[in-house]
Amino acid sequence: MTRTVYVNGQYLPEHEATVSIFDRGFLFADGVYEVTSVLDGKLIDFAGHAKRLQRSLDELEMANPTTEDQLLEIHRELVRANDITEGLIYLQITRGAADRDFAYPEDTPPTIVLFTQAKPGLADSPMAKTGMKVISIEDQRWGRRDIKTVQLLYPSMGKMAAKAAGAHDAWMIEDGVVTEGTSNNAYIVKGNTIVTRHLGNEILHGITRAAVLRMAKEAQMQVEERPFTMDEAKAADEAFITSASTFVMPVVEIDGRAVGTGQPGSVTARLREIYLDEMRKAAV
Ligand code: PDD
Repeated sequence: MTRTVYVNGQYLPEHEATVSIFDRGFLFADGVYEVTSVLDGKLIDFAGHAKRLQRSLDELEMANPTTEDQLLEIHRELVRANDITEGLIYLQITRGAADRDFAYPEDTPPTIVLFTQAKPGLADSPMAKTGMKVISIEDQRWGRRDIKTVQLLYPSMGKMAAKAAGAHDAWMIEDGVVTEGTSNNAYIVKGNTIVTRHLGNEILHGITRAAVLRMAKEAQMQVEERPFTMDEAKAADEAFITSASTFVMPVVEIDGRAVGTGQPGSVTARLREIYLDEMRKAAV
C-alpha cells in the first residue's frame, strides 16, 4: 500500500516525497520530532505534543512553519487519507536545506515532514500482558535530552544492545542512577509509591509521563519524582515505561533478574487502563 505523506505543504504518495541532500536534518541532525498515537482514528494528547514541539523549536531557535491548528489539520488529513484506526503519526521539522555550514543559515525555510504508521493492536498489545525485559547501559547521550531532536543514534545502539542480550529495551544509567529508557520514561513501584526521574535536561519530558503522573495522583497513588538506582529497581515490586507508542508498558525483568513476581504488576495494569480510558475519551 502506498501511503500519503506530507512534505512542505503538499500531500504526496510516499515515493514522490523528497527532501534535499543539503537538508540540515540529514547533515547535522538539526531537527526535532514528535510521535503522536492514533486510537479509534483519533489523536491522543495532540495538544501536549504540539506544546512540546514548540518548546523544542524555541530551545533551538528554529522557526515553526505551521500554526497548531494547521498542524492538527495535517495530522487529521493523514489519518483520513491513510485510513488509520490505530497507529502513529511521525512529525519532523528541520532547519531546512542550505549549503553545509555549522552556523545556522539565515532566511532558510524549515522542512516539515509527516507520515503515518499503521499499528493494529497498539492498545491491545500482547506485551502489556507478558511484560518486557530491559538491560542497563551507560547513558552516553548529549546534555540536552529535554529537546526532542532527531539525533537518535545512541538510542538505536541501546536497542541493538538490548536485542543482542535477548531483551526488548535498555534503561540508561548516569552517575549511578537511571535517567530513562532509550525511547521512553522509566518507573519503578514500591508499595503504593511510583518513582520516576524528576524533570531536567537529563531526560525527555514525556507527554505520556505528564498524563500518567497526573492520573496516578488523581487515583490517590503516591508519586516521587527523583532519581532511582538499579539496585532499587531490582528490589522494586513493579517497573514500567511510558511513551506515546507504548502508553504504559510493564517491565518484568531487569538485567536478567525478575522484577517482583516476574509478572506485570497490578499498579502498572491499573495505570495502563486508566490512561487508555481517559485518553481515548479526550482524543481529538
Ligand atoms: N519516544 N524518553 C525518550 C528518550 C523518548 O524518545 C520518548 C519518546 C519518551 C517518551 O515521551 P512521550 O511520552 O512524549 O512519547 C521518553 C518516541 C515515542 C519515539 O522516539 O518513537
